[in-house]
Amino acid sequence: MGSLRKVGNGNFDYSFKILLIGDSGVGKSSILLSFISNCVHDLSPTIGVDFKIKLLSVGGKRLKLTIWDTAGQERFGTVISSYYRVYDVTRRETFINLSNTWAKEVELYSTNQDCIKILVGNKVDKDKERAVSREEGIALAQEHKSLFLECSAKTRENVEQCFKDLVLKILEVPNLLENGSAVVKRQTMKQKQGHNSSRGGGGCCLN
Ligand code: GTP
Ligand code: MG
Repeated sequence: MGSLRKVGNGNFDYSFKILLIGDSGVGKSSILLSFISNCVHDLSPTIGVDFKIKLLSVGGKRLKLTIWDTAGQERFGTVISSYYRVYDVTRRETFINLSNTWAKEVELYSTNQDCIKILVGNKVDKDKERAVSREEGIALAQEHKSLFLECSAKTRENVEQCFKDLVLKILEVPNLLENGSAVVKRQTMKQKQGHNSSRGGGGCCLN
């Protein structure tokens, strides 16, 4: 598979929604900023829900990622492609809280059972203050059939890799691809309808 590559503001093959979850202060917004704009600076706590869009090309497919950034335990209901769950490797309680709320997440956030999960331990640049080992992270991820990586929003270590791993996994799940391609189909249908009506043509049918 190809590496991540930016694409312009054109069309896309698939659209994926990714939801960032984790305790306040673990670095969700910092990871998102680091991924979207390659820059890192101190952020204020997120209020409510924010989102950013990133267009990129992976494995020959043009993808639109809508990444939702929640504030702490904000309730959020939508059909999403994946959960991106973050804890702070230097604050053990953020890891424990994630494992406790894991089972309730579908009820809290989504109705999509097929979505892909990634567990991410952030702030590995503060290795001397580490309170959660890499092995513990791997074990929790395995228990919940989730991908796993450690990263640092500050140094940008593994930030892009987390999203790349996630997207490659989403691309393997036909149900999630159908969700994405449905958007493209709807757009195509609108374009066709517009085209037909401008020519005075009849209705259009897409399967
Ligand atoms: P809420 O919006 O309150 O839910 O917090 P959040 O998870 O979005 O955390 P945020 O990105 O605001 O980061 C909280 C603090 O941690 C900020 O002071 C960041 O600068 C710092 N921080 C985030 N990521 C890292 C990292 O990788 N390393 C270090 N050393 N600090 C980080
Ligand atoms: Mg935030």
